[in-house]
Amino acid sequence: MIKITLNEKPVTLDVDPAMPLLYALRDELKLTGTKFGCGAGQCGACTVHLNGKAIRSCITPVSAIAEQAITTIEGLADTSGNLGESAVQQAWREHKVPQCGYCQSGQMMSATALLSSIPNPSDEQIIEHMQGNICRCGTYQRIKAAIKTAADNSNKHQTAGNVTSANNSGVEYFDAGQITNNKQGA
Ligand code: FES
Ligand code: FES
Repeated sequence: MIKITLNEKPVTLDVDPAMPLLYALRDELKLTGTKFGCGAGQCGACTVHLNGKAIRSCITPVSAIAEQAITTIEGLADTSGNLGESAVQQAWREHKVPQCGYCQSGQMMSATALLSSIPNPSDEQIIEHMQGNICRCGTYQRIKAAIKTAADNSNKHQTAGNVTSANNSGVEYFDAGQITNNKQGA
């Protein structure tokens, strides 16, 4: 039995400790917002937060997250706790970022972690921090614009770090592929 805090609620997992967190989320807990892309830490589709830091859940065994806080796309909220209304999610809607949408929960989780760490990121910082999240539809320019809008709105309302988990102190990437903001394809 592995106990975690998931989207601010206590959860007990009765699974093989070696099971990837992504499988536990999707298959055991039925939280399907987090997507399977490559299964190898290379695409970012499976990004969630571990204690506020972006991690790849496809290569993170459940045993590594015992007694820790996980946030998924289902747990993003504004500072009043309104799910789906975080600054990043609002900006994503404003800019109509998704195309097919498959990569976008991972993109938003990485963007949220970025803004928690760097409230006013430059273009270069956005590209650097988002480079491990691949979008085969090529929505990189809209992603960058939405991150800028989310940063502006968060700063206006002093709501940066608006996720439900605590200690949103930075970004942690397992993959640092050389993806630029205009690269197409996964
Ligand atoms: S599915 Fe996890 S990084 Fe691709
Ligand atoms: S919107 Fe289609 S993969 Fe990103």
